[in-house]
Formats: sequence, C-alpha cells, structure tokens
Amino acid sequence: MATMNKIIVKHPSGSYPIYLADHALAQTGEQLAILGYRGRCAVVTNETIGQHHAAPVLASLQAAGFEVNRIDLPDGEQFKTLETVAGLYDQFVTAKLDRHSSIIALGGGVIGDMTGFAAATYLRGVPFVQIPTTLLAIVDSSVGGKTGVDLPHGKNLVGAFKQPEMVIIDPQVLTTLPKVEFCAGLAEMIKNAIIGAPELFATLESRSLEYTGKCEDFLCLTTSDLLTEAVQVKVRIVEADPFEQGRRAVLNLGHTFAHAFERLATYSMRHGEAVSIGLVCAARLAVRLGHCSTETAERIIALLQRLEMPTKLSAYAPLMVWEAMFTDKKRQGDTIPFILPRAIGQVDIFKDVAQADVLAILEKQRP
Ligand SMILES: NC(=O)c1ccc[n+]([C@@H]2O[C@H](COP(=O)([O-])OP(=O)(O)OC[C@H]3O[C@@H](n4cnc5c(N)ncnc54)[C@H](O)[C@@H]3O)[C@@H](O)[C@H]2O)c1
Repeated sequence: MATMNKIIVKHPSGSYPIYLADHALAQTGEQLAILGYRGRCAVVTNETIGQHHAAPVLASLQAAGFEVNRIDLPDGEQFKTLETVAGLYDQFVTAKLDRHSSIIALGGGVIGDMTGFAAATYLRGVPFVQIPTTLLAIVDSSVGGKTGVDLPHGKNLVGAFKQPEMVIIDPQVLTTLPKVEFCAGLAEMIKNAIIGAPELFATLESRSLEYTGKCEDFLCLTTSDLLTEAVQVKVRIVEADPFEQGRRAVLNLGHTFAHAFERLATYSMRHGEAVSIGLVCAARLAVRLGHCSTETAERIIALLQRLEMPTKLSAYAPLMVWEAMFTDKKRQGDTIPFILPRAIGQVDIFKDVAQADVLAILEKQRP
C-alpha cells in the first residue's frame, strides 16, 4: 500500500479527513470503522463506474464487518433530479438504513451531488462518505460540502450543505476515465493552481512539455502528490468560507465566462472546454485592466494549449456572451463579479468591470 496522504478539513461543526493514495479504495471499510461507524451502509454508484471500481470498495466494507447494499443510479447529468433522489430514499428504506448507517457516493460530481443531498435529507441527515472517481470530483466537487440536484429551470437550484465524514481519493480510478472527462477535470485542476498553488502550476507546466496526446500522459499530471496540492487549494478556500458568503467565489475563476458559453451552446459544450476558454478570457481581461502581467496570461494560455485544451471561441458574438452572463438564475443585482488573476497563485474578485473591456476581450477570443 502506497503512503497515504491525509488532509484534515475543518468546518463549522467539526472536521473530516481526506485520504489520498493509490489503491485507497481498498481501505474504505477499515477507515470508516476507525472513524467509529458500523452496521448497514449503502454504496451509491452507476453501472459505468461500478463495473471498474465497486469491487474493492464493497469487499473492504464487508471485510470490516459492514452490511453492504449497492445502489446503481442511471448515468448522466439529466438524471441529477429530485425524482432520482426520491428513488434513492425508497431504496434506503428498503435496505433498512437508519440514522447510524453510512451512505457512500462512489462516482463523479453527479453521483456525489445527488447522494450527498439524499444523505443530508434522509432521516434529517445520515453519515456520508465521498469517493470521487472523476478528476473534476477529486479536485472540486467532493470537498466543500455542496450537494444538490438540478431543476428544469436551471442547474443546482436545490441543495444543501452536507459535510462528509471522510473523502477517499484513489488516483488509480483515473486510469479508466475517458479522455474528454479527464480534460474537464484538468481545466479545474489548472484553475486551482492559478488560484493558489504556483508550484503545482510550474510542475504542470514542465510535465506538459512531455504530453503527446495519449491518455497515459495525463496520469503523470495526476499523481497523488499533485492531486494533494490541487485539493489543498480547495480545502483552504472552503475552510475560510464554508457557506459561500464571500471569498469562496474565487473558485469561480473562468466560470463567469464559461457559464455564459455553456448557456449559449445550450449545454452541448462541455464544462471543461468552457472553463478552459473562460480561464483564457479571465487572464486576458486581467492584463487589459492592469491587474496581471502579459507573461502570466501567456503562461496560462500556453499550458492549456500544450494540453490541447480549447482557448478560442468563434461561435458567439461578444454581445451575446455578455447578455448570457446576466441570465444566470443565481445572480443577484446588476453587476457581474469577475474573478481575475493577479499572478499565478493569486486571484481577486472585481465587481466593477466595464462592459467595453469584457467585449474587447471576447472579440480577441475569436480565431
Ligand atoms: N458540489 C460541488 O461543489 C460541485 C462542484 C463542481 C461541479 N459539481 C457538479 O459535478 C457534476 C459534474 O461532475 P463530473 O464532471 O464528475 O461528471 P459525471 O459525474 O457526470 O461523470 C462523468 C462521466 O464519467 C463517468 N465516470 C465517472 N468516473 C469514472 C471512472 N473512474 N471511469 C470511467 N468512467 C467514469 C460517469 O459515469 C459519467 O458518465 C455537475 O453536475 C456539476 O454541477 C459540483
């Protein structure tokens, strides 16, 4: 067993560990028992993920004495709904889960968000464990306690803060991840590096020089130590702002642009691609407004390009993008906050960015 990296995340009502190591899935049962849990548990996953990764999780829980139920949900964002969660409650009742039973999410952000929401609300809250299996879920959604589902009116409109009892991260799960999902997570990992991990950014830069377009090349960008650095950025931010009242907004670096691109593409554009172009826009806007150097922006763009992430967007007129930024259902007030880099490892929130500056940047994005 490789050395286990452990990060403790503090939150208003306690703390939880993140265990990060190759083959950590096989430690799930033992670690959960060490935390004092026993009895019944449910592992919520889907067929795609379960076929590759459920076996070591289920076996370790059984070996540690848990009575295990596996529950498979349908695969896809379109199933991240209240209806699917209602089906989960039915299965929890059938499995006789009580307040002391643990509910374990084994999957990407979709499984994690839905299972976390079900765990937050079933019997007014039962213990919850996150085992993220996509790069996005590892570096972003599994840490910080945000859970929820989509409504027909928009994404993530219903949810709850539900802190997990523990998070188990096993980089080996990424060996089965499709390339397109890898790229989506890589955009968020690079985002975390720009927000608060300059050394991680420099390592990604040097390793990207060897990138040849093969999936195996990605795996040297996602070793336990690099993932630990990326996760620590998120941990520091959510510890400082657990309920998303202020500073946590910096995690939206590149996302003001990205959400507008996705909305215009009626979600046919992948989130990671939109974030990649969004990071470029944020960097260019920061240069234009005098907040960061041209060299910083060029480093960000060069890294994304070397990893074959998109950096240009041709389909939409700048004014359309600007207008799409204002249709976010969760937005308050008349101004759009932009998260912009000052340097690699340092970002800030800017509330009064002029429309003309944003339009000028979007114009430059066109090939
Ligand atoms: N809660 C938060 O803080 C937060 C933050 C960011 C995003 N999110 C949410 O996360 C969701 C996106 O998550 P995602 O990008 O992980 O997508 P996802 O959960 O849909 O997973 C992507 C695809 O990869 C498959 N998959 C997952 N792990 C695999 C593996 N190891 N091998 C092979 N296939 C695998 C899944 O079955 C799915 O088909 C969105 O709903 C978004 O709103 C939540």
